[in-house]
Formats: sequence, structure tokens, C-alpha cells
Amino acid sequence: MAGRDVIIKPGYSEELLLDLHAKYILKYGETEDDFEFAVTDFLRISGVYWCVTAMDIMGQLDAMNEDVIIKFVMDCFDESTGGFRPCYGHDPSLLYTLSAVQVLTTFNKLDVLDSQKVVDYVKSLYQSDGSFLGDKWGEVDTRFSFGAVAILFLLKQLDAIDWTKATEFVLKCMNFDGGFGTRPGSESHSGQIYCCVGYLTLTGNLHHVEVDNLSWWLAERQLPQSGGLNGRPEKLPDVCYSWWVIASLAMLKRVNWIDAKRLSGFILASQDSETGGIADRPGDVADPFHTLFGLAGMSLVGADSRLKSVNPCLCMTEDVLRKQGLEIKYLPF
Ligand code: FPP
Ligand code: ZN
Repeated sequence: MAGRDVIIKPGYSEELLLDLHAKYILKYGETEDDFEFAVTDFLRISGVYWCVTAMDIMGQLDAMNEDVIIKFVMDCFDESTGGFRPCYGHDPSLLYTLSAVQVLTTFNKLDVLDSQKVVDYVKSLYQSDGSFLGDKWGEVDTRFSFGAVAILFLLKQLDAIDWTKATEFVLKCMNFDGGFGTRPGSESHSGQIYCCVGYLTLTGNLHHVEVDNLSWWLAERQLPQSGGLNGRPEKLPDVCYSWWVIASLAMLKRVNWIDAKRLSGFILASQDSETGGIADRPGDVADPFHTLFGLAGMSLVGADSRLKSVNPCLCMTEDVLRKQGLEIKYLPF
């Protein structure tokens, strides 16, 4: 069944407007104040990660104000828990901590961090059933299982946790269609699939997935009219799913199961050719989140040779991971 889709109007730029996108992202980094108002309060440190990684993928990291960024990130560190807040005055959480560690890794600045505190923070969120909480408020979600393993991987501290039960929990979230949801029994969702496939990759457990069943479900996310990908059946296409879906297919070695040309057409049509930046779909307002995941998706399908290679598991450039000596082992499917 075709599901809902959008119609792409002719006349969009068929070229990736790299200079314009770099200018769009940079305008958030001009002053410290801009960084603080760039994204909504509760997402700020993740907003910094989206901007920094988008610039790195475009080969423009040097244009960013590293000192301002590192100061902002370290001001978000909560000494008492070892977690990172999104910005001053908010509670720390696992996902903000992942964003902070990703930014520090990208700038090769992990040495400014008391990483043992961060490891203890991650351990404090681990539950006896193998799940992870996202913060002290107690929500459980497979995003947090991914966040936990990704942080410890970047800190080279994977041995700090025995992943046996945590892996059992993630596998309990696998559905009959091969996909994964937020918790056991929850419907399959491409964002959660990315997290679970990433978790299983980093812990060396990817052999547990039903590769063809899952890849088939992921490939069906491509909509026939626009070429864009949706996150679940019957949903509209959205540029960020160019990341969640394609990154999952990349870890499963099945990127060629979608039509890359049609997908890149959808992403290009979602560019704002005046202000720069990429929106969730053609005609909508651009934002740094969809700009990052649009660029990262274009890189994964090899649509533009000017983009750096992106690691499908961590959404950081392969350059950064190589420099840090961080190697991810995939299965030879
Ligand atoms: C869709 O969210 C996306 C997800 C559920 C996955 C989010 C994953 C993380 C935060 C882990 C860290 C990610 C990276 C790249 C390192 P949505 O709320 O937009 O879903 P909707 O489309 O159903 O509204
Ligand atoms: Zn989106």
C-alpha cells in the first residue's frame, strides 16, 4: 500500500547548496548568545551536536568557534551526577550526555572531562531488568540503551557494564516484523530501530536480528511519489528518516535496498535555497536537526562526493572516529 506522501513541486535546486548550509549553521555559532537561543531550551546541547556534526560532514568544522562551544558544553556538566544538562538550569539526562560526549570527541577534547563521573552516571541509570532510564524521572526507552552504550564506547569504557541483561532487554523489544520499538510490545519505529541496531552493533550482538525481515520493513519506508522515507507505515516522509532508516540499513549492509537517487531528490527538494538549511519536507522551515540528518543521509548513500563519510552507528564522521582510534566491527552479512 502506498500510504500518505507529498508531491514535490518542480523547480527545486538539484544541487546540494553546501556553502549556503554552512552559512546557515554558522549563524548559530557567531556568539555565545546565539548558541543559547538557536534551539529550544531543553534541546540546546543536542542542537550544538547537530550543528557541529553538520559542519564536520561538510568539511567546515574549522569555521566553528571551538572555544565557545567547549565552554558551553562544559558549563552544562553537572558535577553532582556526572551527567550533562541541555543548558544551565535544566536536569541532566543520558541523551544530552551523549551529545556532549560526541561534541567533545569531535573536537578531540575528551581530556577536559572527568570521564569516570560520566561512566558512573551511565551506570546509575541501569535497571535490574537490563533497561536504562533516560534521567532521574524514570522513563524507559530503547533510545537510552543506545545512549548508554554509545557514551561508554566513545569513552572507551565498554567494559564498565556487563551487557548480557541489557542485550536481553533490547531483544525483547524486537517485533514480528523484524523491527524494534521503545519497550517490549511497542510498535516498530525507524528511530528506535536505529537505536537498537546501533546498540546491537556496538555490543557485538547484531547477529540476533532477522536481517532480511528487518531490511525489508526498512526499505518499505521509501514512498513511491516523493522518494522520501517515513518512520512508520502510513506516516508522511521526513528528511530525518533519511538518517534513521539508511543508517540502520548501512549497519545491516543493505543500503542498496532503497533508491538512492530518488531519496537524494527528496532531500534536495527540502533545502531552503534562500536561507540555507534543510527542512523535514519540501516547503517547510529549515532547522539544524533536519540539516544534519539530510546531509548525513546524503553522505551514506554517496550522493555528493564533497561530503565526508559518516559513521552509520554514531552519526559522526569516520575521520573523527579514526583519529580517536575508535573502531566498530560490523557483521560480514
Ligand atoms: C524519531 O523521533 C527518532 C528517534 C526515536 C530516535 C532518536 C535517537 C536518539 C535521540 C539517539 C541519539 C541519536 C544520534 C544520531 C547519535 P521523533 O520524535 O521525531 O519521531 P516521530 O517522527 O514519530 O515524531
Ligand atoms: Zn523529522
